[in-house]
Amino acid sequence: MTMLVLPLPGNGAMMERLLAELRAERGAVTIRRFPDGETYIRSHDPVEGRDAALVCALARPDEKAVPLLLLADTLRDLGARSVGLIAPYLAYLRQDQRFQPGEGVTSAYFARLLSGRFDWLVTVDPHLHRYRSLDEIYSIPARVVGAAPAIAAWVRSHVRNPLLIGPDGESAQWVAQVAADANAPWIVLEKHRLGDRTVEVSVPDLREWPGRTPVLVDDIISTARTQIRAVGHLRELGAPAPVCIGVHGIFADAALEELRAAGAASVVTCNTIAHATNAIDVSALLAHAIRGFVPGREGSTHG
Ligand code: R5P
Repeated sequence: MTMLVLPLPGNGAMMERLLAELRAERGAVTIRRFPDGETYIRSHDPVEGRDAALVCALARPDEKAVPLLLLADTLRDLGARSVGLIAPYLAYLRQDQRFQPGEGVTSAYFARLLSGRFDWLVTVDPHLHRYRSLDEIYSIPARVVGAAPAIAAWVRSHVRNPLLIGPDGESAQWVAQVAADANAPWIVLEKHRLGDRTVEVSVPDLREWPGRTPVLVDDIISTARTQIRAVGHLRELGAPAPVCIGVHGIFADAALEELRAAGAASVVTCNTIAHATNAIDVSALLAHAIRGFVPGREGSTHG
């Protein structure tokens, strides 16, 4: 029997793209809030003995986690054989150590919550900094999809003469691969985070790359302070207006408007979190990884 794919609210567009790639069935679910704020869940499909997967981008995760966990429990309670999680954006990875005495290592606790409810996980470019792999905190099989090939394809077709720039050391892992796939040079800056909304980014040395269009690539754009600082330096150096790319566009508060006002030529994200800036489609890459979890591969349309 084909896999049943169910979207959490706000994930319909990604689910439709995945259904176009996978031979899977669209599941129907009602999720709504009772007047007291609690969550009502109802699955409308027979799930006994079936493999199911939930699609949920986990930006602003606190409001999504309870419905997600309750739906997973509902399906299991109704007899689903397995329940997987397709989380194009996976949250709670940046608090990956105790930076101050008494802090919670919430990445590990969130991983424990999800690992207790799901049989497998597929995500796109999780923010792995001090963890080398999701296996360090997730006890379920987890597949990671890299967005670099899709970003590189976009850069090749939209930017003439690009110079790829990573705003901090961690971004080297994404920028180097995008640059290799786009056949373009790359550099990485240094960043010091002074607070949630305060960062310092080093001034790039562009002497080797006159006339190139700067393309900033980072995994997450949240407050956009990181990219705003980098854009500011580039504009002060007289470089062409930079293209700003984020794998995951969270855009806290007025981050998008502020990044545009800082001088970005354009702001582009992958469709891991539904947003007006989505221009890079990673659904085919995600579907490829999901096929590996479809038992017997009977849900696969490709080899
Ligand atoms: C963290 O190091 C990430 O790679 C991003 O650079 C960071 O999350 C961006 O955050 P913000 O947009 O708030 O500067």
